[in-house]
Amino acid sequence: MSKDSLSIIDNRTGKSYELAINDGTIKALDLRQIRTDDEDFGLMTYDPAFVNTAACKSAITYIDGDRGILRYRGYPIEQLADKASFLEVAYLLNVGELPNRAQLDKWVSDITYHTYVHTNLIKFLEGFRYDAHPMGMLLGVVGALSTFYPDAKDIHNPANRYLQKVRLMSKVPTIAAFCFRHSRGLPYEFPRNDLSYIGNFVNMTFSIGGRHEPNAVLQRALEILLILHADHEQNCSTSSVRAVGSSHVDPFSAVSAGIAALYGPLHGGANEAVLVMLDEIGDKKNIPAFIEKVKKGEGRLMGFGHRVYKSYDPRAKLIKQVAYDVFEQTGLNPKLEIALELERIALEDEYFIKRKLYPNVDFYSGLIYQAMGYPTDYFTILFALGRMPGWLAQWEEMLLDPDTKIARPRQVFTGYDQRDFVPMAMRG
Ligand code: CMC
Repeated sequence: MSKDSLSIIDNRTGKSYELAINDGTIKALDLRQIRTDDEDFGLMTYDPAFVNTAACKSAITYIDGDRGILRYRGYPIEQLADKASFLEVAYLLNVGELPNRAQLDKWVSDITYHTYVHTNLIKFLEGFRYDAHPMGMLLGVVGALSTFYPDAKDIHNPANRYLQKVRLMSKVPTIAAFCFRHSRGLPYEFPRNDLSYIGNFVNMTFSIGGRHEPNAVLQRALEILLILHADHEQNCSTSSVRAVGSSHVDPFSAVSAGIAALYGPLHGGANEAVLVMLDEIGDKKNIPAFIEKVKKGEGRLMGFGHRVYKSYDPRAKLIKQVAYDVFEQTGLNPKLEIALELERIALEDEYFIKRKLYPNVDFYSGLIYQAMGYPTDYFTILFALGRMPGWLAQWEEMLLDPDTKIARPRQVFTGYDQRDFVPMAMRG
C-alpha cells in the first residue's frame, strides 16, 4: 500500500476506502464515494469558515503561524519592509519575481500614467453624505469603476488583465484621497505625476492651497505599512475577491467585494476598533478592569489574536519599530502608553497565553495613522491601499488555475422537510 494515502473504514457499512494524500491534504470530493446506499449523496466535510480546508493552491504568500513567518514569493517580510518599495513589492506579488530596473520603471510609469479618474466619479462621490464612512464610499466607488471600464469584463486576455490591475493600483489611491477630502469638506486635489506613488497619495490627502511639505520619514513609514499589508494569503477579504472573481465578474467588482470584507471590525476594521478601545480605556489605571471584562467574554481585546498566527504577528513587530520612527517626527501619541501597558499585561495573563493571543498587525498601525493625521475611520482605507496588490495577484492566480470553478460551498440542511402552504385564514 502506498504511504501517501489515508485508509477510512465507514462503520455504518463496514466498507473501507483509501484516499490519496497530496501536499498534506485529501480531496474533499474523494469522500463523496463513501455512501451508505445508492440513495445517499455521499460524505461531505463540515467546515464553517474553512478553518481546516485549503480552498485553493497558491504560490504567492507563505505563512507559518506558529513560528511567526511571513514571506511574499519566498522573500521574508522583514527584508522587503527594510529594502523594497511598495510598487516593487506589488510587482513581485503579481509577477512572481523581483523586477529588474527596466521592468520596475515600466510598472511605475504605467501606474503613474493612470492615476486620473473620470470626473463623473466626483459627482458620484458628492452624492455621499458629509459623514459617510470612507470605507462605504470606497467600496461603492470602486464597484462603480466597473461601469467606467466595461472592457474589464475581458478577463481572459492577459494584456487586458494587466491594464485593469494597473488601473486599480493607480486609481484607488486617488479615490481614497478624494474620500478623505470629501469627509473634511475640502476640494479634491488631483494627482501629480511628478511625485512618487506614496508622495502623490499624501499630497492628494493633505495638500492645502496647493501646498504640502513632504516628510520623508513619514512617507517611508506609510510605505512600510503598505508593504506589510500587501498580501496575507487566504484571509477573509482575499477569499472574497477569489470567490466573487470565480464567477468571472470584472476585477473592479471582485475587488469591491474584498473592500467590503475588509471593512468589518474582525478584519481590516480592527485598526479603527483598537483606537476606539484605547479611547474607552482612557487611562492606564483602567486596564486591569478592561482585561477582566474581556476575559468574561464582554468584548474582545481588539488588535489581538489571529486565525493563523499563534505567536507574535511578524508584521506587528515591524510596525512597533516604525511607530517609534514616526513618533520621533510627530511627538508621542499619548495612547501609545496605554497600548504598551495593555500589551504587557495581556502577554502575562493566563487567558491570553492559553489561547495564544498576541498583538496582530492592527494593534499599533492605528496609532501611527493617527499620528500621521488620518482620522480613525480612515485607517481601514490605508489597509485597503496596501492590500490591493495582494487582491490583484490572488485574483489572477485564481483565474489561471485550471482547478478553479465558481465558488459554491455545500450546506448541511437543518430546515423543515416538505410541508404544505397554509392559507392566511388558517394560520394561528
Ligand atoms: N480578545 C479576547 N479573546 C479572544 C480574542 C481577542 N482579541 N481573539 C480570540 N479570543 C478568544 C475567543 O474568545 C476564543 O476563546 P474560547 O476558546 O474561550 O471561546 C479563543 O480566543 C479563540 O478565538 P476564535 O474566535 O475561535 O479565533 P478565530 O481564529 O476565529 O478569530 C480573530 C481570529 C482575529 C477574528 C480574533 O482573534 C479576533 O476577533 N481578534 C480581534 C479582532 C482583530 O484584531 N482582528 C484583526 C485580525 S489581523 C488583521 C486582519 O487580518 O484583518
